[in-house]
Amino acid sequence: MIGLNRVSKTFTGQATPAIQNLSLEVAEGETLVLLGSSGCGKTTTLKMINRLIEPTSGTIMVDGRDILQHDVLTLRRSIGYVFQGIGLFPHMTIEENVCVVPRLIGWPRDRRRRRARELMEMIHLDPDRDGPRYPRHLSGGQQQRVGVARALAADPCYLLMDEPFGALDALTRSSLQEEIVELKKQLNKTIVFVTHDIFEALALADRIAVMHEGRLEQVGTKAEIINRPATPFVADLFGKPARQLDAFREQLS
Ligand SMILES: Nc1ncnc2c1ncn2[C@@H]1O[C@H](COP(=O)(O)OP(=O)(O)OP(=O)(O)O)[C@@H](O)[C@H]1O
Ligand SMILES: [Mg+2]
Repeated sequence: MIGLNRVSKTFTGQATPAIQNLSLEVAEGETLVLLGSSGCGKTTTLKMINRLIEPTSGTIMVDGRDILQHDVLTLRRSIGYVFQGIGLFPHMTIEENVCVVPRLIGWPRDRRRRRARELMEMIHLDPDRDGPRYPRHLSGGQQQRVGVARALAADPCYLLMDEPFGALDALTRSSLQEEIVELKKQLNKTIVFVTHDIFEALALADRIAVMHEGRLEQVGTKAEIINRPATPFVADLFGKPARQLDAFREQLS
């Protein structure tokens, strides 16, 4: 379980808070999608959960305990993080990239190699062919999959994914979304997934949290958000695709 209770964050030197009074719960095994436009505070929220950023006020709980009471390294090990942008280490092979965390926590080489093979197969890469290659030899979609494999390597309970498919074309994106849906079924992780794409949110979420300018507009199931938008912002956001289609129809007629 992840819980945020009245969390705010004002960065040093900034007049307005990046996050204001944010309260959210992510249940065990649930995928919560943080949805909102650029600058609304999605990355800041994820980074506060694994203590890359300290909140200005409020509390964050993981596994029923305030994250300030967790040993920070143990906390980060229990949380896999897929960074915004691909963020693979360019001078490490794919196998080394996948095994960064297992190496940090001292897994022996044999165990790391076995785990790397298993994960590469899971993300549809060939361990023999692709394991020794470098990130620049892989396509963008393959690199993004490696980012996901790297986050899963030490089998964390939690997964924070920050626009992991951000830079991809629509087709690759939707095939990776399907893979994540499959992974979810197999792995039963608690996931916070960040996106600015409402269709990606609808494809992946158990619940969606809509953010706007550092505030939570609404959190709910897909049906709740679509059928009962709590604010004009949410209504407008989810009404947009239909309006765009109507506008095209009008142009064509
Ligand atoms: N280190 C920092 N110092 C000052 N301001 C920051 C810092 N990091 C983020 N901000 C500001 O906080 C706000 C939220 O940023 P954040 O990166 O969380 O947005 P985001 O929702 O992830 O956006 P995007 O979709 O573009 O990635 C922005 O206005 C940003 O400029
Ligand atoms: Mg971001």
